[in-house]
Amino acid sequence: MPKDWYEWHDLYDTEPVLQQRLEIVREYIADSLNALPDGTIRIVSVCAGDGRDLLGVLQNHPRINDVYARLVELNPQLVERGRATIESLGLGKQIEFINDDATLATNYVGAVPADIVIVCGVLGHVVNEELDRLINNLSFLSKPGAFVIWTRGHSNGIPYSDNVRKILSASGFEEINFQLTATGDMAVGIHRYLGESVNQPQEQQLFVFSGVPSKAR
Ligand SMILES: C[S@@+](CC[C@H](N)C(=O)[O-])C[C@H]1O[C@@H](n2cnc3c(N)ncnc32)[C@H](O)[C@@H]1O
Repeated sequence: MPKDWYEWHDLYDTEPVLQQRLEIVREYIADSLNALPDGTIRIVSVCAGDGRDLLGVLQNHPRINDVYARLVELNPQLVERGRATIESLGLGKQIEFINDDATLATNYVGAVPADIVIVCGVLGHVVNEELDRLINNLSFLSKPGAFVIWTRGHSNGIPYSDNVRKILSASGFEEINFQLTATGDMAVGIHRYLGESVNQPQEQQLFVFSGVPSKAR
């Protein structure tokens, strides 16, 4: 059982479900980069971990020089590791790794609305009522036409991603692609925001993260 979120990331070395999830998330990030028109691409990652999903794609992607990203993560060791990767890729002028609370709208000011919003390993860590609030607030993070990439684990035979897809659809997001990992218990989706620009969030707190690493996948 991982004692904190830094240790939780070691599970990527051993857990097929996380390895497969990461592969699909990277595929969807690359698809989004490929689909966006010429010019600057703004990206935000909510509860970014060590940023391995986005940074793993950028290192080999032809749009690397167009990207400006802000990753927001609370665990300082993960941020440190992410920043080291950013430096090693020579992306220090384009990618900010903020060590702060990703649930607060203020931490996105200047970086949104974004063309790509990454919310991976987050939706399973909010209680039901918060899920609606979080998904509604994605419209504050997203430009019209933005891609939102998300994950949601299933457990005890309950397909929790069904509800995520339902709320996304009701909140102005169109599904572009969706798959389950080969393990069958982790969903990864990519949606496109069809709504209007939202300059201000309804509240400064976009959602409450209540997950704990010892129970997470
Ligand atoms: C399940 S992990 C997912 C990490 C990463 N997105 C991934 O998919 O590999 C959840 C992450 O959320 C971070 N986290 C939890 N609460 C947070 C908060 N309020 N603000 C920013 N990050 C937070 C944790 O430190 C952890 O890195």
